[in-house]
Amino acid sequence: MSIPIPLSTIFLAGTVAIALQAVWRYQQKVTKNAGTPGMKLIISNTRQIMAIMPVFKIPFTRDWMFNIGLSWWGNHNYDIFEKYGQDIISAVSVDGAPLCYLLADAEAIQEVLVNRTRFPKPIETYKILELFGRNLVTTEGDDWKVHRKITAPSFSEKSNKMVCEETVTAMEGLFELWKGQKSVVCSDFTETTIKLALIVICGAGFGMRVPMLAQDVPPGHEMSFKSAVELVSDGIQIKVTLPDFAMKLTKYTARVSAGFAELRKYMVEMIQDRANSYQNYNDLFSSLLAANAHDSEGLKLTDDEVIGNIFIFLIAGHETTAHTLAFAAALLALYPDVQEKLYEFICTHVSNPSGAPTYNEVPQLTYVSAVFNETLRLYPPVTLMPKTSAEDTTLRTVTTKGTPVTVPIPKGSILHLISSALHTNPRYWAEPNEFKPERFLGNWPKHAFIPFSGGARSCIGRRFAEIEGVVALSMLIRNYRVTITDDPRFAGETFEERKARLFKMHIVITQTPESIPVTFTRRT
Ligand code: HEM
Ligand SMILES: *[C@@H]1O[C@H](CO)[C@@H](O)[C@H](O)[C@H]1NC(C)=O
Ligand SMILES: *[C@@H]1O[C@H](CO)[C@@H](O)[C@H](O)[C@H]1NC(C)=O
Repeated sequence: MSIPIPLSTIFLAGTVAIALQAVWRYQQKVTKNAGTPGMKLIISNTRQIMAIMPVFKIPFTRDWMFNIGLSWWGNHNYDIFEKYGQDIISAVSVDGAPLCYLLADAEAIQEVLVNRTRFPKPIETYKILELFGRNLVTTEGDDWKVHRKITAPSFSEKSNKMVCEETVTAMEGLFELWKGQKSVVCSDFTETTIKLALIVICGAGFGMRVPMLAQDVPPGHEMSFKSAVELVSDGIQIKVTLPDFAMKLTKYTARVSAGFAELRKYMVEMIQDRANSYQNYNDLFSSLLAANAHDSEGLKLTDDEVIGNIFIFLIAGHETTAHTLAFAAALLALYPDVQEKLYEFICTHVSNPSGAPTYNEVPQLTYVSAVFNETLRLYPPVTLMPKTSAEDTTLRTVTTKGTPVTVPIPKGSILHLISSALHTNPRYWAEPNEFKPERFLGNWPKHAFIPFSGGARSCIGRRFAEIEGVVALSMLIRNYRVTITDDPRFAGETFEERKARLFKMHIVITQTPESIPVTFTRRT
């Protein structure tokens, strides 16, 4: 005969054990944290890279985690640092995640960025981005050096020039669609900038001119190159979250899977087609094939790694640039004085009346670049860069009152470099929440501006994005006046309310606007 133990007793005992374990672990972390002020969390977000839903590790298991769909980070400005009174704060969670430190201190951030051995990137969390093959984003240490060495020459002067030309073509395609309309109302301008950025990355990335509207399907394929790229870009978040079998379950996810397969097929074909002719192209893909064939030290990427890198250029370069352009349009609509000044500037600095700059004119477009930078300062698409601490170390910072403090950083901690908070830290930026592109024309604090990260691992596509942004803005503002679309529902709102409405975000890999309702009115 067995003694019946009531289910409720088992449940209670389990709950107590879980609670005790949590308390014990939490106490350990509190001790290590040595009084650094900051947040206390039930559930940590440190495992959540790329803002896939935050996860909860189930006690007594090694790998099991609970996904509960709550997010406490996102577009943080300096507020939380203000609240805790210093520029490095901690986040101590009850769950099994490591201690976490949040940084908005320019000097400390530079130290972390420069010293890659002490603060490596937590690459295990990026493995999901190896869908096509290992690449620049998912590697660290000596492996990363090989990837960087072979990919870097692709981002050359020739390729920058191509970015300029492809952006002009994309904008001309857009204006062609808008032709004949005095004003164009966009319920969400992001949808347009996503299309524009896609055309540019297909052109300058793959040497593929794709149309603004649908593209024909070539023989041997079930969808066009453009559709495949669109599906991959749009569906990446789902693809890295769901297991393969689950992708088969809905029509949309099945199509996303097909998009991945098709894109791979296209890339394999391109490798074969261009094996003997890549010299004739200037796009990133061909340049990468060329660099891979000719490295003097005999370093070489596999075909999968070449494809993996091109895929990562596509993912890293598409939404980031598209969202920045959408944010810029919204800011210019909110600040008509800046927009008029920008218009005057373009009229006097771009010789072509279409507003399309030549490649040689791009470096002179300082005010356009300042508008682009000021947009990135206020709304960096990548708000957070994770690093880890490879050793017990310390970082220096100051309190909001200016008193120096040394923060102990235990080995194994996660460090979150929060660009959006650094960019609004009043220690570096006057009137940090105001949109004032002029600040980039004078002396500005270079070390407190990290939209593209910094150090050896900074964004390899920075010039690509800057050229695309400057050319697109020049053409857009030269030809159209942008305003916030009138909407009777919001007739009585204040400026601040309107700004908050436009810049409502959610995070899908990068900061994504909910919707940017703007109207473009032809200037002539
Ligand atoms: C406004 C547009 C862009 C922004 C804000 C941006 C931002 C960033 C940031 C913050 C990082 C560092 C990420 C980290 O350390 O976790 C990064 C890395 C990277 N970006 Fe960009 N990026 C942009 C455009 C592009 C474009 C156009 C491309 C390629 C065509 C690109 C390719 C990459 C790659 C390959 C890396 C990894 C570099 C490495 O680890 O060595 N990005 N980007
Ligand atoms: C990085 O940190 C290591 C270990 O603390 C130190 O030996 C090295 O000098 C640092 N390098 C740089 C460039 O700061
Ligand atoms: C904008 O920022 C970049 C660095 O990200 C810099 O190289 C460029 O000069 C800045 N533009 C202006 C007008 O200051």
